[in-house]
Amino acid sequence: MRIIVGITGGIAAYKAPELVRLLVKAGHEVRCAATPHALEFVTRTTLETVSANPLYCDLFRGNATETEHISLKDWGEMLVIAPATANIIGKMASGIADEPLSTLLLAMPPQRVLMAPAMNSQMWAHPAVQRNLATLRTWGVRTIGPDDGDLACGSSGTGRMAQPEAIARQVASLLQQPHPLQGERWLVTAGPTYERIDSVRFIGNYSSGKMGFALAEALAEAGADVELVAGPSALRTAHPRIHRTDVESARQMYTAATEAFPACRGAILSAAVADYRPETCADHKLKKQGDQGLTLSLVQNPDILATLGTMKQAGQVLVGFALETDNELQNAESKLHRKNLDYIVMNSLRDTSAGFGVDTNKVTLLAADGQRTATPLLSKQEVARIIVETVTRHKE
Ligand code: PMT
Repeated sequence: MRIIVGITGGIAAYKAPELVRLLVKAGHEVRCAATPHALEFVTRTTLETVSANPLYCDLFRGNATETEHISLKDWGEMLVIAPATANIIGKMASGIADEPLSTLLLAMPPQRVLMAPAMNSQMWAHPAVQRNLATLRTWGVRTIGPDDGDLACGSSGTGRMAQPEAIARQVASLLQQPHPLQGERWLVTAGPTYERIDSVRFIGNYSSGKMGFALAEALAEAGADVELVAGPSALRTAHPRIHRTDVESARQMYTAATEAFPACRGAILSAAVADYRPETCADHKLKKQGDQGLTLSLVQNPDILATLGTMKQAGQVLVGFALETDNELQNAESKLHRKNLDYIVMNSLRDTSAGFGVDTNKVTLLAADGQRTATPLLSKQEVARIIVETVTRHKE
């Protein structure tokens, strides 16, 4: 395939030649395009040497009849921007074309663009950057990362560019099978549930929704129409194939999930659902009663996953999660069989940087036929892609 690697002016630009090398090694023909700022971090000679092609970095090079951004757009089957700074993301979202790469981006169909953002974590969290990215995603732009870790500015947090190997793998999977789940509907549950105690308090948990939202995105990128049933979460979704239903309690999630499941090809339940809820919910704020303690009486919530296990028809695929702290594999295996699942994804709270809240996870995927796949610590996006690749194969 013919791939353009676009490089912008961030420190992670030093990793771009490695990405180019991996893509060339995988058999692709690669051309590089760089912003003027990118060339402060990586040289023309390096990029031309690893790609074995001339660099596109000057809007006015060549003869007057040549419009290089248009010919390059026609040449490239995919444009990978790595690193993608907040600046290029903002320019694309605003339709600004004031240097070679942003001009090329404006000519390129967004569905052919993959961006690997890299920036300081506060810049990454800025509403303007998140809004711009959400806009790009609605146009069909794919993204990978950023990862968590130490940043060039001396701080640490989310903002490191995804590793070149991960980007090359993503390119391969996007080019290989763009839409293996096209025409299929999938259900995903994500986030926590809140179980009300009174009008201001609830019982909840630390789930952020990151794992479930990453699964919804990965399924949508694989072509599926996704019914995302989300507990309270600050995360946003912009993919046009994701239909989101927001719920608060386990019983609301149960209703939404059991209604959606019959029309779905499969379901992945990653939500951290409260097993118990207060038996009663006061419609006012409970007042302190002198020095006395407060005893809450709890009743069991319905088990959504187990219910879907009883509803499952031939041809449907059901995937559960298991969040464990001890006897991890044994407990997960027991849930796999007890709840009539095809797969269970075990994550352990004993693994550092895995589970609740963080951007990474480390899982073991257990199949009903006894197969096991263990991942190293990866971004939740990558874990989601591995799970989706597995369920895609299950289909065949
Ligand atoms: O949201 P993040 O911050 O990214 O964190 C991700 C995660 C840690 C929440 C996720 O990776 C995860 O492990 N989700 C499942 C958490 C959980 O509740 O595990 P469990 O072992 O208690 O439940 C087993 C399975 O039954 C899960 O698929 C759960 O969704 C489901 N369940 C549980 C109880 C219930 N009443 N109904 C259910 O459907």
